Amino acid sequence: MSNINFFSGENVPLEMHKVRMVQKLTLLDAKSRLKAMEEAGNNTFLLQNKDVFLDMLSDSGVNAMSDRQFAAMFIADDAYAGSESFTRLEEAVTKIFGTKFLLPAHQGRACENILAHAFVKPGQVTLMNYHFTTTKAHITRLGGVVEEIHSAEALNIESCENFKGDIDVDLLNAKIDQLGKDNVAFVRIEAGTNLIGGQPVSLENMRKVAEICRQKNIISVFDASLLSDNLYFIKIREEACKNMELNDITKEIGSIFDITYFSARKLGCAKGGCILTNNEDFYNQMKELVPLFEGFLTYGGMSLREMEALSVGLIETLDMDFISQTPIFVEALTEELIKRNIPVVTPAGGLGCHINAGKFLPHIPQSQYPAGALACAIYLCGGIRGMERGTMSEQRTPEGEETFANMELIRLAIPKRVYTLSHMKFVADRIGWLYENRELIGGLEFSDEPKVMRFFLGRLKPTSDWQQKLIDKFMKDMPSGI
Ligand code: F0G
Repeated sequence: MSNINFFSGENVPLEMHKVRMVQKLTLLDAKSRLKAMEEAGNNTFLLQNKDVFLDMLSDSGVNAMSDRQFAAMFIADDAYAGSESFTRLEEAVTKIFGTKFLLPAHQGRACENILAHAFVKPGQVTLMNYHFTTTKAHITRLGGVVEEIHSAEALNIESCENFKGDIDVDLLNAKIDQLGKDNVAFVRIEAGTNLIGGQPVSLENMRKVAEICRQKNIISVFDASLLSDNLYFIKIREEACKNMELNDITKEIGSIFDITYFSARKLGCAKGGCILTNNEDFYNQMKELVPLFEGFLTYGGMSLREMEALSVGLIETLDMDFISQTPIFVEALTEELIKRNIPVVTPAGGLGCHINAGKFLPHIPQSQYPAGALACAIYLCGGIRGMERGTMSEQRTPEGEETFANMELIRLAIPKRVYTLSHMKFVADRIGWLYENRELIGGLEFSDEPKVMRFFLGRLKPTSDWQQKLIDKFMKDMPSGI
């Protein structure tokens, strides 16, 4: 926890929980890892989990649940309509965000689909601090346009700015005036801005943006999927909020934005999705879409057991001991990598540790997906599964041109309460080895490129035999092959 100090002065991410259920891990040898990577089309999304030692692909749906969450699952009230589990979820959501209306959905992107259907007309622009892959895909699928109005520091990979996820409010004002309010579908703030390295948004910025939207009569939307880490950073980094209760912060957020939504695979450590609002008109506009796309209004595609786990998980988000866990582990891993001169996103954010693949592999052009290549190499050298967050994760233009990402990142997500400090040290050790051998790493090209969200299912091949050479060097340095 953040306020327990070691007498030695060492900065250790202390776990404020104990582990009573474990899952066995295996680490394949280097040759088997190469085979598994080839079979996965050099895309870490396509690896089989049995071939993975440390799964740092995502924290989505893979966070460790608490004993209380598991216990709550037993009291699920299985009913197609009017389930008590839904009533309990409504109560939990109201306790946290203070909002009146709740719509359930099967996960975060399903909320985005509903939002886009309800509020985005072809040609309209949605303004946001930064896009997320699924958010943008749903908006553009319906003919909408996404524009980012992030702060000046957002794309500065190595920075000292505490809230890189903030929206530039002057730019927001100017943009709305330039576009005209009818051409703006909504303004969206994403907590813990995912694609720029899990970087938080300040409460002050949220207030200002919500106020501008109110004045200009534009819908304000808050994506709370990564709110847990963001809350921690508001408490730790935002001077004016140091003495605020976590629940006061969440209630304020619920009251200032017109609509809040989240992936419950992230917030609340369960599975599912929720859309919240105090506005009855917005609620009614979205309500009809839930039975159409998701399921009846009191389950919306969620299993009722997961709904019970979510109600408890949301309440646990109001505990500093819980929400500090991911950020302090991200910081610990980031520090270990910095010690080895490995280029990373700073300041350390939430969600996971983000490596700057562009700087790690300056010899690989963006057209050969340096972050994708680094994700492959990290698996090859340690059985560690990370996620490409660079050009592979972008969409081509309608003309088929590549959209080069602003940043070529590789994300090593740290699912909540799953891994220990020794795991982090192993990751740093293997990536340290890789950094010393980085010149051996080559590029990738698509052999099978899906049209929509290609990073999920696309298959790639190496541009040379660099993977074999990397494995040969690994075997030379670590003859056990493990
Ligand atoms: N918004 C944000 C900020 C997210 O990080 C995600 C998912 C979603 C929306 C969509 O939610 O997956 O439940 O449909 N992020 C996952 C990740 C995929 O790995 O970062 P979902």
